Amino acid sequence: MKVTVLKTAEEIGVAVAKIFTDEVKANPDCILGLATGASPIPTYNNIIKTHKEEGISFKGVKTYNLDEYCDLPKADKNSYYTFMHEQLFNGLDILEENVHFLDGNATDTDAECRRYDNEINEAGGIDIQLLGIGNNAHIGFNEPADSFTDGSFKVKLTDSTIEANKIYFDENPMPHYALTMGVNQIMSAKKIVLIATGPKKAEAVRNMIKGEVTPQVPASILQNHNDVEIFLDEAAASLL
Ligand code: PGA
Repeated sequence: MKVTVLKTAEEIGVAVAKIFTDEVKANPDCILGLATGASPIPTYNNIIKTHKEEGISFKGVKTYNLDEYCDLPKADKNSYYTFMHEQLFNGLDILEENVHFLDGNATDTDAECRRYDNEINEAGGIDIQLLGIGNNAHIGFNEPADSFTDGSFKVKLTDSTIEANKIYFDENPMPHYALTMGVNQIMSAKKIVLIATGPKKAEAVRNMIKGEVTPQVPASILQNHNDVEIFLDEAAASLL
């Protein structure tokens, strides 16, 4: 694991955006795995900035998002579909048919998960996967569990995750279920970049990097990947 500690979330955003835009320059047909939440927002702002300033086209790029809430309309302001369009896709020339999500409203969620995994594998697999980390060390919505998960699946969110994310839900209650890529699917990305900022992440970050590899700390599996870059601010790095 390559760990970089920077002063601010904005500096992290600049550094991580460069990794992604360099990939798009080198490989205009690349496949990107994307994440939602507060952590990637400065990265997305800086990807849009570089796209505009340097004219890098995203027309050949395909994206696959990590997860999506269940039982929330696709157009809801809190869906991850809406988040990604507002925070990134609307600022790029990416093609709508090239952005992919798990369908949290699918009636047959097992079939939906198999469809998603097959599509990623048939596209050639993810070149770079962006991750945040939960206060409980989840990646995607892979919550602490007795075993590492494999492909995409429907998950019941833990109280810790509901507590952290419910601040975004003012009108409708926050869904308690989501579809998420599984741990092994995430680990099959060729490169993984994880961002963590703020003191609430410090314990999860320490356990991810310094603790044993255990499904009780889902992010600890990243110790077994040969190309992981972790970007932290000083607060998130404070227990290392
Ligand atoms: P955050 O969420 O970026 O909003 O802190 C990260 C996560 O839960 O994976």
